[in-house]
Amino acid sequence: MRVLFVCLGNICRSPAAEGVFRAMSGDAHDLDSAGTSNWHVGEPPYGPMIAAAKTRGIDLSDLRARQVTAEDFTRFDLLIAMDSKNLRDLDALRPAGNKTPLHLFTAFAANSATRDMPDPYYTRDFDAALDLIESCATGLHTALSRGTIKDLTP
Ligand code: 4NP
Repeated sequence: MRVLFVCLGNICRSPAAEGVFRAMSGDAHDLDSAGTSNWHVGEPPYGPMIAAAKTRGIDLSDLRARQVTAEDFTRFDLLIAMDSKNLRDLDALRPAGNKTPLHLFTAFAANSATRDMPDPYYTRDFDAALDLIESCATGLHTALSRGTIKDLTP
């Protein structure tokens, strides 16, 4: 599967989701991440997020931010949004007639308290973000292995 993780800046949540999911799934899937904004295009992930991920053995330092495009709806099989604003912004970009599945990442978490993944850029709690990302990534990994992704209603 070609999977795209999307957040606002593409420097905190979505690159961390990409890195965590890649560590979990090896080369089974084609993965990328992007931001709905162009604010950080070309930049590596945010320093504190790189540092927090590194303590879990995940290297985010080679990733570079880019902005999501309408073409991403045809280049990827599955789009994963970090919060409901990302979901709305992506829906506005979706080409007419395109049916690529688009889900909230938290829909895959074992015990999701929130639909919206809190943004550590504002909360400053990078470890809590990574805990939730790991839970979501585990659920996504299971759903993709079972082929149940199309049945999942976020
Ligand atoms: P992200 O977090 O969407 O998880 O990458 C943010 C990073 C930067 C900004 C906002 C959110 N910003 O305002 O620059």
